[in-house]
Amino acid sequence: MAVVLDGKQVAAELQDKVRRQLERMAPKGRLKLVVVLVGDHPASASYVRGKQRTAEKIGLAGEVRHLPASVTAEELLGVIDTLNADPDVDGILVQLPLPAHLDERTVIERIAPEKDVDGFHPLNVGRNFAGVPAVWPCTPAGIMALLEHYRLPVAGRHAVVVGRSNIVGKPMAQMLLQADATVTVCHSKTPDLGVHTRQADILVVAAGVPGLIGAEHVKPGAVVVDVGIHRVDGRLVGDVDFEAVAPVVQAITPVPGGVGPLTVAMLMVNTVRLGFRRRG
Ligand code: GUN
Repeated sequence: MAVVLDGKQVAAELQDKVRRQLERMAPKGRLKLVVVLVGDHPASASYVRGKQRTAEKIGLAGEVRHLPASVTAEELLGVIDTLNADPDVDGILVQLPLPAHLDERTVIERIAPEKDVDGFHPLNVGRNFAGVPAVWPCTPAGIMALLEHYRLPVAGRHAVVVGRSNIVGKPMAQMLLQADATVTVCHSKTPDLGVHTRQADILVVAAGVPGLIGAEHVKPGAVVVDVGIHRVDGRLVGDVDFEAVAPVVQAITPVPGGVGPLTVAMLMVNTVRLGFRRRG
């Protein structure tokens, strides 16, 4: 039976480290994270509450700007401009997805790169791609922290990423590559997924399809990281069929309690990093 990788525990340790760092360095004023939530998507609202709660718990100021689903692009961009110009604001996160009438690209590109705690601004994407230090998107950064915590080696391993989103798949592949893995990226148009996933020493699944990965998709002894989260028949499940895969592999993340808490913890790490950098 696999080792269950306890994201909740690792996230708690990361948060504790950030909290102590904040105490020690006692920056001028309290560092502040502002999360912009547009509309009333229930899952988004719940994630945003979690981010604010965690920020406050570790000693950051956490503020939620809740805007109606009917907000115009001009109004939303105006809010971002105000936050960009506010010297008390260290990190800005616009929760995705946005309502269909708002263009995500335009919104992300409006956030000041030095306050972009998601690492989604093209300037930060480009810096990361070029190997120049910037902040990495929170979910892949959290996964790297998890692998490191459990001392699961990456260098020289074959890592397979299923999914190519800007939020997870693409930056995940890039982080693994920079950590010297050999990386394969699969996606919805990959004809025979299993051919690739069965070669993975490290398999990261961010496809958004419940139960996509079964025992037949994994190599015995692999490390499996499940980024998916779905409510199916009132139960939270991932992209990996945990019951089927766990007996076959070396290590696996649970859903919930795997990747999710790490994303939130890395958001705190990114906020503090950008806050200290900006305030000097
Ligand atoms: N929606 C799902 N994950 C994320 C994330 O990491 N950042 C933002 N801004 N929105 C998300």
